[in-house]
Amino acid sequence: MGNKDIQTAAGIINNGGLVAFPTETVYGLGANALNPIAVAKIFALKERPSFDPLIVHIASFDDIKLLSNQPTDLVLKLADKFWPGPLTIVLQKSSIVPDIVTSGLPTVGIRMPDNEIALNLIRTSKCPIAAPSANKFGNLSPVSASHVKKQLPGVDFILDGGRTEIGIESTIVSIVGNTCTLLRPGKITLDDINDALPGIFVFETNKSGKLIAPGLLKSHYSPSKPLYLYKDHQTQLPEQSGLILHCLNGRIPDCKKVIYTSNNNYLPEIAANLFSSLHAMEDDEQIKQILIEPVIESGLGLAIMDRIKKAVFKYESIK
Ligand code: TXA
Ligand code: MG
Repeated sequence: MGNKDIQTAAGIINNGGLVAFPTETVYGLGANALNPIAVAKIFALKERPSFDPLIVHIASFDDIKLLSNQPTDLVLKLADKFWPGPLTIVLQKSSIVPDIVTSGLPTVGIRMPDNEIALNLIRTSKCPIAAPSANKFGNLSPVSASHVKKQLPGVDFILDGGRTEIGIESTIVSIVGNTCTLLRPGKITLDDINDALPGIFVFETNKSGKLIAPGLLKSHYSPSKPLYLYKDHQTQLPEQSGLILHCLNGRIPDCKKVIYTSNNNYLPEIAANLFSSLHAMEDDEQIKQILIEPVIESGLGLAIMDRIKKAVFKYESIK
């Protein structure tokens, strides 16, 4: 992956094509955010429903003002603290943002990724890049170029930046006045925001239980074979099971394959290895079903369990 690849990729973006690229969280499937026809190709290739809006990726703080009418001092302070980084901020959109990007919502999700290849691509393309995760809608998120190829062979170009570092998608918050509402948990927690900017925001955690981020369905991130929670360390496993554990300790029941996401229950390591472990189980033909151990639901564990619960939902609900 060199500068020539970035040039090629930027050329494709400028011609209305699609480029998959690494970020620090997961791979994105990018198009010129200001070109509605290019953005429409993202929805088509992903088979994504049109009600689910896209995040717009930028490389310069000035672009906040291009995309939003609401760059208040609080928003700029928040961006300054956490960007580049795994935080998406949902703001009132400006008229330059095509409706297809926001699924007709008056708001737009913006983030500056902390990945040199992504930033380079945006700078070289000279436009903001709309990008969802580079997977088929509802399936496992991609954390390597091969995961992208497996699900989206029709993409015009893939920038291969190796495995992504964080492994789960960005935290999403909406900012209205001084109210900061968590729409999707991620590596950056509301506590992190309060610690960095003490006493500035009033926090809400989506109390209503309603789906505020339209893409936050109960079922998401699922592998193509049944996935269940590994409950109370059950000793008897169904035949041809694969098991995903988060610590090396303990006795392992009989199963075809065990993957440890961490040596010692270390949450950042579990997050980084979560989707790649699920991909490895999905790709192993001997495995007919997967069991996964839950993690503690606080801090980064909240985001990890959010992904695990959604990944098992489709299968647990028909068991
Ligand atoms: O880490 C990430 O955020 C990755 C990388 C590629 O940046 N992207 C990502 O995109 O996870 P996606 O499309 O898989 O998830 C974006 C989520 C969706 O659930 C969508 O509904 C929500 O963001 N979203 C986007 N714009 C929104 C808006 N204006 N209001 C509320 N939710 C929004
Ligand atoms: Mg996604």
